[in-house]
Amino acid sequence: MAAYRCVGPPMSMAYRKSCHPVAVTYRGWRRFSRISYPAEAHGVRFMNNYANEIARADYGKWEAAGEMPTGSVLAKDSFIVGDDGKIRVGPLFVMAKGAAGSSDAMRNWKYTMIMPGGSVRQDVAIQKFCNDCHRRAGAQDDFLMFLPLPFRISKGLGR
Ligand code: HEC
Repeated sequence: MAAYRCVGPPMSMAYRKSCHPVAVTYRGWRRFSRISYPAEAHGVRFMNNYANEIARADYGKWEAAGEMPTGSVLAKDSFIVGDDGKIRVGPLFVMAKGAAGSSDAMRNWKYTMIMPGGSVRQDVAIQKFCNDCHRRAGAQDDFLMFLPLPFRISKGLGR
């Protein structure tokens, strides 16, 4: 968490370069990871999960949440701690729930990757890459993977 506090400001500045609305607002959302946790699925990185106002009541129910409402947005920022002890900003991963019928094969999720340089990736290849793994969570979990048990905080932290 000390590392997260340290990298927080440069991280926000890096993502904000994209001008993407999630990059600008997600740090004001409730955080559902108790501390930054190591996650290999997204490269060896430390991550934090955030849910917007529409998603936050359901996300903290975890596997009991069912289908998330339209307008739900989940954001996961990331940083890397190198062998040299230096901390680098990683991508911001975003899932946004669109209207029914917008992308049935992806349960209407749209995936976005906001790079620390400010570029935004949400092309067809990225949709497939992200969804091919997330769909393994199954329809009962609405393609969500949540986070490892010790790092979950059901009510979320923040406003
Ligand atoms: C190899 C599997 C895999 C791939 C590929 C993958 N994810 Fe994930 N994702 C996970 C896992 C596992 C979690 C749960 C947290 C963790 O352990 O990292 C997760 C969690 C998330 C979350 C938090 C919401 C949730 O599911 O609880 C978001 C947002 C997210 N991923 C976005 C993305 C985006 C955007 C991409 C594509 C750029 C992507 N993911 C690619 C496995 C994957």
